[in-house]
Amino acid sequence: MFRHFSTVAGRIRTASVSRAVSTFAARSTASTMSSKIASGSLMVAAVIQAFALNSETMLTSCESLPVYGKPGTNQERTFLAIKPDGVQRGLIGDIITRFEKRGYKLVGLKMVWPTEEMAKSHYADLKKKPFFPGLVKFFSSGPIVCMCWEGKDIIKQGRQMLGETQPLASKPGSIRGDFSIDLGRNICHGSDSPEAAEHELKMWFPEGANDWTKTVDSSVYE
Ligand SMILES: Nc1ncnc2c1ncn2[C@@H]1O[C@H](COP(=O)(O)OP(=O)(O)O)[C@@H](O)[C@H]1O
Ligand SMILES: [Mg+2]
Repeated sequence: MFRHFSTVAGRIRTASVSRAVSTFAARSTASTMSSKIASGSLMVAAVIQAFALNSETMLTSCESLPVYGKPGTNQERTFLAIKPDGVQRGLIGDIITRFEKRGYKLVGLKMVWPTEEMAKSHYADLKKKPFFPGLVKFFSSGPIVCMCWEGKDIIKQGRQMLGETQPLASKPGSIRGDFSIDLGRNICHGSDSPEAAEHELKMWFPEGANDWTKTVDSSVYE
């Protein structure tokens, strides 16, 4: 987490330095200063720019994995969320436990109270459905728990562990089958495809995830 905060701060710093350098260089060039002073300024600017680029390179090399991981590998990632009803009902721990016990790796976790705009953007593919306004209102009615989970086939397995969209059609043993009854109170969300996972993880985790090594992975994967 801290690495990502400092990465974001680093980016902002780098961007500001780059902007400052361009402004400084442009101003220097346009000014009526002697050419000696101007070229001196440009040299300083070039050194700062090189430093900024070097910082960028270092940041890039730290972030080998995009937030959406590598679909089709053991580093596939998905976006799972515990919706306001799941949070209200005290199911955060139970839901996280299921994925942990299965062997999956939690690489991103935070509580967010979505705005209506965030809810609309998250469910943009459903905007023509008659239930869309109610869905947006409910999704933004309280905090949700945003998670990024990693592991083999996690996108499909995550959906299976959630159960069917309709809780009454969900098998016992699934989250929705165990904890919910009504369609509009089905507790959890999960990306339904690699494309959706990429879109949703970029949206909910713009700061990135945590590329940590799980030491027991040799007991999970053969
Ligand atoms: N016909 C409906 N009436 C009311 N709410 C619905 C309906 N269909 C879906 N929803 C709600 O909208 C959410 C998003 O729908 P959808 O993406 O189709 O399902 P899922 O959450 O399984 O991916 C559902 O989880 C459910 O809470
Ligand atoms: Mg969906």
